[in-house]
Amino acid sequence: MCPAVHRIRDMQMNHAPVTGGMQLPYREKTASAVTERGLNDMSKTIAVTSGKGGTGKSSICAGIGYTLAKQGSRTLIIELDFGLRCIDIIFGMSGQIKHDLSDVLTGKVSAVDAVARVPMASNLFVLCAPKNPFLKVTVQQIIDICQSVRKYYDYIIIDTGAGINNHVFDIVEQANLILVVTTPDPICVRDAQMMSDEFYARGNRRQRLIINKVSKKALGAELVRDLDEIIDTIGVQLIGVIPEDYQLVIATGKGEPIPSTAPSLAAFDAISKRLRGEPTPLTVKIG
Ligand SMILES: Nc1ncnc2c1ncn2[C@@H]1O[C@H](COP(=O)(O)OP(=O)(O)OP(=O)(O)O)[C@@H](O)[C@H]1O
Ligand SMILES: [Mg+2]
Repeated sequence: MCPAVHRIRDMQMNHAPVTGGMQLPYREKTASAVTERGLNDMSKTIAVTSGKGGTGKSSICAGIGYTLAKQGSRTLIIELDFGLRCIDIIFGMSGQIKHDLSDVLTGKVSAVDAVARVPMASNLFVLCAPKNPFLKVTVQQIIDICQSVRKYYDYIIIDTGAGINNHVFDIVEQANLILVVTTPDPICVRDAQMMSDEFYARGNRRQRLIINKVSKKALGAELVRDLDEIIDTIGVQLIGVIPEDYQLVIATGKGEPIPSTAPSLAAFDAISKRLRGEPTPLTVKIG
C-alpha cells in the first residue's frame, strides 16, 4: 500500500485539528491515542529525527528529557549525532564527560558505565556522541546498547543526525516512537514529509509530529497558511508545537536550565505529559 494511503488512514483515526491562531485547541484524543497504541509501556525508546538539519532535534531531546525527568521519569538521552556532539554543552557538562559512545563501541567501558548524570535534573542521564565523525557503528550495536541500559530507565531518547539516509532510517525505526521534527519552513516541511513517507513505506506508523520554531512572523509570512497545512502535508499526528523562543537559545547555549518563564518550557512540559499518557490540552502562546 502506498505511503499516502497509510497516512490518510492514520489521520482518519487520529487527526487532531489545530488552528494557526494564538490559542491552539487540542483534542485529548491525541494523548489517549498514544497510550492506546501501547507507547506507554515500560521503558520506551523515542527517536527524534528530521529530514533537514537545524530543526531543533537536539534542543527538543534536551527539553523533553529535562521535563520528563522533572515529572518523575528516569530518562536517558543517547546522542547519535557522531562528530557533532552538543548535548554536553546544552546541559552545562562541557569538559566533564568522562566516557562517550566511542568508549562503548570500542569495548572500553559498558554502556551503563558510560552514562553521565545531568547535574540540573536528578532523573536525567546522557550518553554522549563520539567526537570522531567517522567512527563506524552498526544498527545492531545501537540496539544492543539500548537493550543493555533500558531496564534502568523509563524513557530512552535518541537524538539523531539530520538527513534522509539508510543508516538513520535503520536506527530510528527500532524505536517505539518516532518524533518527526519540522519547522514552518516549506523546505523543512517537504523533507519531513519525505522522511515520514519512508517510515510509512517501511510499515512504521508509530510516528508523531513536532512543529518547532513557530512564530507569528513565520506564519504571517504566508509561507504556510497555518499549522493545519503543515500537519496535512506531512500526514503525521501532532504531539506538540514549540514556539520560537530566544530564552531557549540562550539557556542551551549557556548550559543552564530553561527558565520557568520560557514559552518553550511549557511546550516541552506538555509534550512530556502526553508521552507519559496524561491527557494534556495543546495551548501554545506564539510570540
Ligand atoms: N524553539 C526554538 N526557538 C528558537 N531557536 C531554537 C528553537 N529550537 C532550536 N533552536 C535553535 O536552533 C538551532 C539548531 O538547534 P539544534 O542544534 O537543536 O537543531 P538540530 O536539529 O539538532 O541540528 P542538527 O541537525 O545540526 O543536529 C540552535 O541554535 C537552537 O538554539
Ligand atoms: Mg542535533
